Amino acid sequence: MESNRLFDDNANRGPVECLGLTFSNDEDRRKYFRNKLKEKLKDPEFRKIEGFPKGSDEDILNLSDPPYYTACPNPFIDDFIKHYGNPYDPEEKYSREPFAADVSEGKNDPIYNAHSYHTKVPHKAIMRYILHYTEPGDVVFDGFCGTGMTGVAAQMCGNKEAVEALGNEVKKDGAILDESGKPFSKLGARYAVLNDLSPSATFIAYNYNTPVDAKAFESEAKKILKEVEEECGWMYYTLSSEKPEDIEKARKLLSERGKEFTKELLPWGRINYTVWSDVFSCPECGGEIIFWEVAVDKEEGKVRSEFSCPHCGASLTKKRMDRVVETKFDATIGKTVKQAKQVPVLINYSRGKKRYEKTPDEFDLALIEYIEKNEIPYWYPTYRMPEGFNTEQPKISHGFTHVHHFYTKRNLWVLSAVYSRLDSQVARLLFTSQLINVSRLNRYRPGVSFPYNPLSGTLYVGSQVSEPYVFTALLNRIKRLVDAFYLKECSGSIGASSATTLQIPNLSTDYIFTDPPFGGNLMYSELNFLWEAWLKVFTNNEPEAIMNSVQKKGLLEYQELMSRCFEEYYRVLKPGRWMTVEFHNSQNSVWNAIQEAIQRAGFVIADVRTLDKQQGTFKQVTSTGAVKQDLIISAYKPNGGLEDRFKLEAGTEEGVWDFLREHLKRLPVFTEKNGSSELIVERTDYLLYDRMIAFHIQRGRSIPMSASEFYKGLRERFPERDSMFFLPNQVNEYDRKRINVSELRQLSLFVTDENSAIQWLRLQLQNKPQTFQELQPQFMPISRSWAKHEKEIELKELLEDNFIKYDGEGSIPAQIWSWLQKSSKLREKMKDLTPETADISLKAEAKERWYVPDPARAQDLERLREKALLREFDEYRSHMGKKIRIFRTEAVRVGFKRLWTEKDYKGIVEVADKLSDKVIQEDPKLLMYYDNALTRLGE
Ligand SMILES: C[S@@+](CC[C@H](N)C(=O)[O-])C[C@H]1O[C@@H](n2cnc3c(N)ncnc32)[C@H](O)[C@@H]1O
Repeated sequence: MESNRLFDDNANRGPVECLGLTFSNDEDRRKYFRNKLKEKLKDPEFRKIEGFPKGSDEDILNLSDPPYYTACPNPFIDDFIKHYGNPYDPEEKYSREPFAADVSEGKNDPIYNAHSYHTKVPHKAIMRYILHYTEPGDVVFDGFCGTGMTGVAAQMCGNKEAVEALGNEVKKDGAILDESGKPFSKLGARYAVLNDLSPSATFIAYNYNTPVDAKAFESEAKKILKEVEEECGWMYYTLSSEKPEDIEKARKLLSERGKEFTKELLPWGRINYTVWSDVFSCPECGGEIIFWEVAVDKEEGKVRSEFSCPHCGASLTKKRMDRVVETKFDATIGKTVKQAKQVPVLINYSRGKKRYEKTPDEFDLALIEYIEKNEIPYWYPTYRMPEGFNTEQPKISHGFTHVHHFYTKRNLWVLSAVYSRLDSQVARLLFTSQLINVSRLNRYRPGVSFPYNPLSGTLYVGSQVSEPYVFTALLNRIKRLVDAFYLKECSGSIGASSATTLQIPNLSTDYIFTDPPFGGNLMYSELNFLWEAWLKVFTNNEPEAIMNSVQKKGLLEYQELMSRCFEEYYRVLKPGRWMTVEFHNSQNSVWNAIQEAIQRAGFVIADVRTLDKQQGTFKQVTSTGAVKQDLIISAYKPNGGLEDRFKLEAGTEEGVWDFLREHLKRLPVFTEKNGSSELIVERTDYLLYDRMIAFHIQRGRSIPMSASEFYKGLRERFPERDSMFFLPNQVNEYDRKRINVSELRQLSLFVTDENSAIQWLRLQLQNKPQTFQELQPQFMPISRSWAKHEKEIELKELLEDNFIKYDGEGSIPAQIWSWLQKSSKLREKMKDLTPETADISLKAEAKERWYVPDPARAQDLERLREKALLREFDEYRSHMGKKIRIFRTEAVRVGFKRLWTEKDYKGIVEVADKLSDKVIQEDPKLLMYYDNALTRLGE
């Protein structure tokens, strides 16, 4: 549609440079690249790319602004990266620690609020990450970019005021200082490569990441609105008079002169919004009931849950009643449709500067009828809504099967009139930004003054709908958009494609920030349909990474798609570089699926944190239990050296220590909060062990050593401080900083199973060897949340299997001895004694205390415990019949590890099938073995 002047925003600017070429102005640049895109679209192979949006060549071209943005896979990314990126240098010296910042910071920002989306991470929050991990000019990537906040953040890193607004000082030379005054980053924009499956999301992202001539936009938008208001304003006329003669006169005028009725002088007012109410029928007497009349308490501004029938007095609830359904002919689709009856019940209007409310009168009803009878003279979307989860709700409740059903005729008319005049991309953005608010998804909520109240993340149609005045909605948004324009030049590349098949070169990006779909929380392709219907290019939902029964995608399909996306992430990221995954956890199985997908792709997780909303601080997350909030996962792509060496060393001891040295390099050395240092849980022996196991399993390798051999080797090779392990060159830094803080803050652990109970006991006993009597009262309350399927193990048994008790005979164990030395009472007495020469009174102090065994003893204990666990596991293996409901997860873990070493993948799958699916999905370790065993079996 060449006649549509879409890209006029900067048409007069020139000359312009783009990807190494010079054009006399932006319009020439677009023409050149649009021709290239046009050619490309003719290539059937190009259109075969997985997830290619649904739309004609013309509509895709219309929506695109190549090379920066294409409403399809962006074929210019290669050139973009060649032009802006730095090739991967295996020798580069790059090192960063994992980082976590509040992902909800900046929700009041005008940029954030310019266009809503079902979920968004504010760019301010992302800036902190980008500043931490990258240098100016680096390439930042987000494959689930949504509205493109990662791109905004990347560009804002070059904006001094924006960086300062985060609380950082920026020096003259561009150095950015952290809170302690140390330089940690540099001022300068980063380049963004953005991608999303949804064309409407990328359309929003494009607008957010492209310079706009704010003045031109403002005057263009206002001009259009004025024009359409002049043309369509008559639809919102109402009488500010209750006089029957006025009403009669107005009605007559309308029937005689049609829309020209406004020419006559009457006490006219202009509608701000009209409230529509559902109509039900009484199950007792069959009488029609207008929900608004019986259920809404206008004084209190509340909806009553119980009320009585105005006809027969029967006591009713909304559930007990049936909706009244109207059958009408929908001329736009040439079919009869059955829809829930809704009638106008309240009009809020303005006359002069004052606002009034009224019940619709005969004229108002006649006007609505008049509009209904007339044909809209403009194009508007009439597509059928896709089959789906969200789309089912309005279909069932109100019979809304097509896009145009989501608007009142009046608002649809105005929208189509506005749409027909839109000339620029940004004007279209203005349009989409209010589409939901002016639709019939806008609930009327008595008592809530904010005019727009759709239920976000759904297509829910309420029993009372507020039909707002479209012009006010759009006019108010102009200002918001203008406040959000900030860019001077375009330095991003945006495309609409599936993250499962990215058109991005290998090893080309320097950092990834991403916020993937969270299981079945939001059905983006269904929700975005209302926008895409106007943009005429639709999401191809085949590779959409969600759980959705209509799309026949459950947890496994979701995990499979996410794994493929993360494999692509892995491919495009440079080795040694970081990825931050923000994830809102509402279901542990989904969280495990994500975790598994990240690791299967090859990434190593180095830190998982959640924001403690009350304290505003970050908590490390060790187990999945009980975490239902935003998680920040920091994962890195191991550097090329390690992966190459590992191919040769895999399955050997050397491979284990090689991995560990690389891994320790990337963990934080010291973290301090409010004067106390924090235990970095990723440095503790058991988590290092878990990460080492994961690294092997995910690469299909067997694990060459037992846990106790690992713990022993760990202690022999790496210095230990406060139960954490360091590289020799890190330990000095730790010691230096640790001196200045008084206290080491321990983690609060949830005990949900045997494994977490052992970890909890280790932490307790490492700090202080204790007797059973001392431990029991502490253990009781924290062990109440033991998982349902988990066989409960008594404290006594836990202690006997994993720890050692000093029986009062022979020399006092070193751990107890050093703890006794902390007592000022005993210190004096102990001065001339040794653990071997301790007297009876000291031995009495030490007696009956449990302590953490030294590595040699730990090995003996582990062997014994493992034997017992394997015996138990063998029972599960021979179990026949129904699923095993209660078992010892530790036994299954140990059993799986043995079967993995024996390459008995079938055995793993067989036992897993005897346990509940949910348990496997919610336990990251079991899931890891099961998933990898399935892969090995080629399932
Ligand atoms: C949580 S949202 C991202 C929101 C974004 N952080 C923002 O601030 O606007 C997840 C996005 O993933 C997209 N998506 C789902 N499956 C995808 C796939 N296979 N490839 C690329 N994007 C996908 C959805 O369209 C959705 O926009």
